[in-house]
Amino acid sequence: MKLTQEVQAQLLQASLGAREHSHSPYSGYAVGAALLDEQGRIHVGTNIENAAYPQGWCAEASALTAMVMAGGKRATAVLVTGPGPDVITPCGGCRQKLREFAGQDLLIIAGDPSGIKQQWTLGELLPFSFGPEHLTVSGVKK
Ligand code: THU
Repeated sequence: MKLTQEVQAQLLQASLGAREHSHSPYSGYAVGAALLDEQGRIHVGTNIENAAYPQGWCAEASALTAMVMAGGKRATAVLVTGPGPDVITPCGGCRQKLREFAGQDLLIIAGDPSGIKQQWTLGELLPFSFGPEHLTVSGVKK
């Protein structure tokens, strides 16, 4: 899937805007995520840390929650922003969470306040992934 420059710019702005709301007093690493759904709508989320450290969660998880609550069924692209200058990539757990609502072709775009840095597909970041089809094909889930 190829995004227009306009949609890419909207995703970057939305992701950076979400990042402003980050609650990350422990790591100091603010993250924003903007998800594009199958209807072309954008859903945002940020990382929310917790004094009991393991209870925090990632920006991508927040954005997925927003998408599901708005009735979105599939993600077609996600733009994740960190502080830079190192290129942020979604953590392993988030790659799997995204997999639930997307296939190999999901576009994962990384950016920071200076702009877009790199992009991959989910197939590149999570090869040979386990997804909902496995349960259907094996007959575990109808
Ligand atoms: N973080 C995300 O929000 N998304 C990622 O994919 C990588 C890590 C957050 C979790 C934690 O709040 C902070 O970044 C530092 O790990």
